[in-house]
Amino acid sequence: MCSMINLVDKLCKERTLSKSEFIDLINCDETTSEYLRSLAEKTRIENYGYDIYMRGLIEFTNYCKQDCYYCGIRKSNLSCPRYRLSFSDIMECCRDGYALGFRTFVLQGGEDPYFTDDRICEIIEAIKKTYPDCAVTLSLGEKSRESFKRYFECGADRYLLRHETANKAHYGKLHPEKQTLESRIECLKILKEIGYQVGCGFMVGSPFQGAECLADDLLFIKELNPQMVGIGPFIPHEQTPFKDYGAGTLELTLRMLSIVRLMLPKVLLPATTALATIDPRGREKGILAGANVVMPNLSPVSVRKKYQLYDNKVCTGEESAQCRNCLEKRIESVGCRLVVARGDSKNI
Ligand code: 5AD
Ligand code: FES
Repeated sequence: MCSMINLVDKLCKERTLSKSEFIDLINCDETTSEYLRSLAEKTRIENYGYDIYMRGLIEFTNYCKQDCYYCGIRKSNLSCPRYRLSFSDIMECCRDGYALGFRTFVLQGGEDPYFTDDRICEIIEAIKKTYPDCAVTLSLGEKSRESFKRYFECGADRYLLRHETANKAHYGKLHPEKQTLESRIECLKILKEIGYQVGCGFMVGSPFQGAECLADDLLFIKELNPQMVGIGPFIPHEQTPFKDYGAGTLELTLRMLSIVRLMLPKVLLPATTALATIDPRGREKGILAGANVVMPNLSPVSVRKKYQLYDNKVCTGEESAQCRNCLEKRIESVGCRLVVARGDSKNI
């Protein structure tokens, strides 16, 4: 046990570990886990104080040409009711969000060919023109270098593209053959080169994932050195090939958040909606484990249930204002405050 505590101290000092040391830490006992958590919380406070940033998530299309085995909006899910928000719907989400104090808008969608680069650029330009003090984050999946460049030139500031798993064999078990880890990693590298603030990330407890895969994720993240890392538990969706697999656990998800906080002290780490879905106090626990971002939904309530990546997603019946107020109380309950700010990463 003593050697496990030493591993946490080593991670804190050197900001990385070897693959086998990461595997040991991923499998650690509860005492070590609590020590890890307390240092991760301390590190969050040293770098970001008690401030928690909020991002307004606008899930603007659930059409998707990809077929990830874990995802509820995969193209093969024929029982998923599809929708697209119009330009004016999206601008209305931003207007409501701005009034509620949001200073980052995240445009997230499936890989939907209807939204051509021209259409995406029109949206980015309109948001940046109307709200010059806000950041625009994109989460649109894999695109060409040219497309990524155009969005950036139109004013997009950040891009979220979870790598999902950094283990090649594991990636192959989560996706059809034509979706590859190489192309995912290539996209992340291009995004960095262009100058985006980049977010990668992975699910905890996805089918066929072992501690070795998670160790690969950590080594990959260390090397990429992103500004953000999105980590949430895998949760099965009834209409996917993974419907019969169990969800990722709260404990392991929190442990991974803490390890990433210690590895990259200045990274932005969201306490995800998936975490809130597996535990009623998931987001609060995420913050106590080192997270410093929340990303509530700003989409119209009429479409929220349709953006169902996994079963039982929380906050699909609540209005944006309700979630904002609910989150504020939750964040204050763990001694933090929700701030009105763009909240750029200090990991530059
Ligand atoms: N459970 C948890 N997270 C999921 N995502 C997709 N499907 C699921 C699921 N069943 C995550 C992926 C994706 C992000 C938008 O949502 O990591 O990158
Ligand atoms: Fe949506 Fe609590 S955050 S209801």
